[in-house]
Amino acid sequence: MTSTPDSATRVLPPLRIGPLEVATPVVLAPMAGITNAAFRRLCREHGGGLYVAEMVTSRALVERTRESMRIIHHDPDEKPRSVQVYGVDPATIGAAVRMLVEEDRADHIDMNFGCPVPKVTRKGGGAVLPWKRDLFRDIVRAAVREAAPFDVPVTVKMRKGIDDDHLTYLDAGRMAEREGAAAVALHARTAADFYSGTADWSAIARLKEAVTSIPVLGNGDIWSAEDALAMVEQTGCDGVVVGRGCQGRPWLFGDLQAAFEGRDERARPSLRDVAATIYRHSELMVSFYDGDETKAVREMRKHMAWYLKGYPVGGELRRSLGLVSTLVDLRALLDSLPLDAPYPGEAAEGARGRQGTPKRPACPEGWLDTQDITPDLEARLREAELSVSGG
Ligand SMILES: Cc1cc2nc3c(=O)[nH]c(=O)nc-3n(C[C@H](O)[C@H](O)[C@H](O)COP(=O)(O)O)c2cc1C
Repeated sequence: MTSTPDSATRVLPPLRIGPLEVATPVVLAPMAGITNAAFRRLCREHGGGLYVAEMVTSRALVERTRESMRIIHHDPDEKPRSVQVYGVDPATIGAAVRMLVEEDRADHIDMNFGCPVPKVTRKGGGAVLPWKRDLFRDIVRAAVREAAPFDVPVTVKMRKGIDDDHLTYLDAGRMAEREGAAAVALHARTAADFYSGTADWSAIARLKEAVTSIPVLGNGDIWSAEDALAMVEQTGCDGVVVGRGCQGRPWLFGDLQAAFEGRDERARPSLRDVAATIYRHSELMVSFYDGDETKAVREMRKHMAWYLKGYPVGGELRRSLGLVSTLVDLRALLDSLPLDAPYPGEAAEGARGRQGTPKRPACPEGWLDTQDITPDLEARLREAELSVSGG
């Protein structure tokens, strides 16, 4: 995994994001409640790439809330340190980015314009924001202005648009490029799609044609290394962003590195390997939560079904693992699994995590009537940052 491939076998050249060079052109998608320093460590141990923290709101960062400071925590050996910021107000975004760079807390800053959650879009944030072109431009401009003197690259992550009648990604991609963003990533769904159906990779190809001077990253429905290669082949993207596919499968990053280096090795973990990873993940979580074992192990509950997908584990044991609160109980439950079970193949692969059905996106009243922004709307938008989390 650590050998250097020669350029002839590499599928893509290293990803260049401003001054950063990422040898394996793979990005761990920011996922609220998942991609904290503990999970990122597990993923990093398997393969190269850029590992993005879960999103933090610019308001919470500026206020230095305890939770926001935890979200932007990186282990001392984590390089580059990547943070994702969400915001709707250029001034607050600017202040948050200034804080990150002046205090040397990040080497890369990604901006979230992809969140489809109604409580965010109802206030004009996330995936519906690029519809207001000037506001989008001002936010990217503010972030780049603050980060540039410190040579910290700013990237943009977005969806295709609000719905099929209100697509924003081509305009937004070109605007981000003009404003000095170092890369753009497209989750090839609209806000209305939520997580349903299949991602429309053809939109990634169109974005790649529109944005020519910075890397274009493709995102959506990469469940295996083969999917990643297929996305590159079909879209011409410069790198891939992987979210749900690595939930309960941090070893996917090893597969991805091998695939991009032209090797066909793939991880085939036995249930014993999976159980060991669950326990290690839990221990890392305890240290991430400063020794708060109850909080850490409870946070692990949601990961159990992902880790065990396809393995021969009965309903009773699965339920107990989903209710676990201490490391001792977790150890006992893991020890009672049929640990000699081999890798189950296809049953452990494929779609996992958030899915759902299409939803008509909630937008502020009159939002779709015009792409311009009014002072009244701007004032209301600032509220959109309050109590936001999730992607
Ligand atoms: C549980 C969860 C949390 C997410 N949180 C964020 C987030 O904080 N910021 C963001 O930009 N996207 C977030 N997303 C979206 C992912 O980054 C990614 O764009 C999406 O899952 C599509 O990629 P995938 O098909 O590889 O999962 C989240 C997705 C999930 C499933």
